[in-house]
Amino acid sequence: MHKLKRYEKLADEIAALIRSGILAPNQRVPSVRLACRNYDVSPATVFKAYYLLEDRGLIQARARSGYYVREHARGSLAEPKMSKRETAVQEVDVSELVFSVLGSLKDPHTVPFGSAFPSADAFPLARLAKSMGQGLRALSPHQIIADQTAGNDPLKRQIALRYTLAGVMLPMDELVITNGAMEALNLCLQAVTAPGDLVAIEAPAFYACLQVLERLKLKAVEIPVHPRDGIDLDGLADSLARLPIKACWFMSSFQNPMGASLTAERKQRLIELVHQHQVPLIEDDVYSELYFDSQPPRPLKSHDRDGLVMHCGSFSKSLAPGYRIGWVAGGRFAEKIAQLKLMTTISPSVPAQVAIADYLQHGGYDRHLRKLRHSLESQQQAMLAAAERYFPAETKVTRPHGGYFLWFEFPERVDSLTLFKVALAQGISLAPGPIFSASRSFRHCARLNYGHAWGEDSERAMALLGQVLAAF
Ligand SMILES: Cc1ncc(COP(=O)(O)O)c(C=O)c1O
Repeated sequence: MHKLKRYEKLADEIAALIRSGILAPNQRVPSVRLACRNYDVSPATVFKAYYLLEDRGLIQARARSGYYVREHARGSLAEPKMSKRETAVQEVDVSELVFSVLGSLKDPHTVPFGSAFPSADAFPLARLAKSMGQGLRALSPHQIIADQTAGNDPLKRQIALRYTLAGVMLPMDELVITNGAMEALNLCLQAVTAPGDLVAIEAPAFYACLQVLERLKLKAVEIPVHPRDGIDLDGLADSLARLPIKACWFMSSFQNPMGASLTAERKQRLIELVHQHQVPLIEDDVYSELYFDSQPPRPLKSHDRDGLVMHCGSFSKSLAPGYRIGWVAGGRFAEKIAQLKLMTTISPSVPAQVAIADYLQHGGYDRHLRKLRHSLESQQQAMLAAAERYFPAETKVTRPHGGYFLWFEFPERVDSLTLFKVALAQGISLAPGPIFSASRSFRHCARLNYGHAWGEDSERAMALLGQVLAAF
């Protein structure tokens, strides 16, 4: 893994102070002399850190008076509040709405704020293709058959290695390679539930989570999410005590769509809760590599001593969209999950597994990730600044420390399904709030994707959205 240079670490520390509001807009950042003393670094290191922060749009130099936090570095739009509690158990029936929204996102000329992916240009696709050639040439004919059932060993080793960097020591036989995280999540839920069971999910939740519940005829218990702190642990404790919940499906870092992350202490408390009730927990962690702080977030899995957590990951968002390679570290359910996988798809494509394994060994994954994280962070700044300029002043917005989504809460008068239709007619997509909820709440909310290079088109699209919003 890339070891951050001193100046990058310093820049990250100061960026965190700005994001948390400790360093406010227009406030002077520490002088070079002070920073040298406080952080025990050389003036050259401080200058390099400040140039980097300037590049990221967080600070600006003022003639003869030093560096200052930019006006919109943190922004004046407020943060949304914790989502409201729905006490009723929900039958899930959202697929038609989700498909009607997703179906309209396919036009390549549309500004892709509604997309679920970062730009395809953000991925090292040519280098991956080279890895596929190299990896396959080195693969024995015997292995291409064997890897179907067991998964490609070098790939599993590389994944296990990345777990150790995130603080999880994982026996390789806990890992099941799957067709993207989506298959992993489906199999986990099948392994621990039967039709009619109750599953605790987030509100708002990733829409495909709702679709999986619908397909497996499971019922949703929606737990509120705070836009910064993540799932409402008191609400969860109450639901676990009152209802016969058979599984939880949560995201602990850069939750889709809100971007929230739980602190290590809250992760620990969440694990204690599920241990107390002995409820299996499916951790959807597909954005964990896309963090902006200096250290990777540790998954819930790193707090689990009991094998109750099934941790699902993927390369779709960080390296290889379309290769459809994900995995699950299945804890005590690993064998059941592996059997279910053999009974459904047998295996993801072996050439795709081999390509990613070769790339992880030789392709420079950490260099690629570093670049991707920095692009995403500065694109987030650009979208936030545009929202400040063009959206109604009462708009609320999240400021996640990773991933590539912003969650907007517009004034109550805005109907996001109408907003979606009007914007799409003008060539702009977005993900309207109701697709993220079994109870079709969040009517005045939307998720916007900042995973594409920021340019005039994006700026124009934000201005246009601002006009549509003003007309409500
Ligand atoms: C939160 C979340 N989980 C899982 C997935 C699915 O990942 P994959 O493409 O690896 O199946 C996505 C993709 O949009 C996602 O956003």
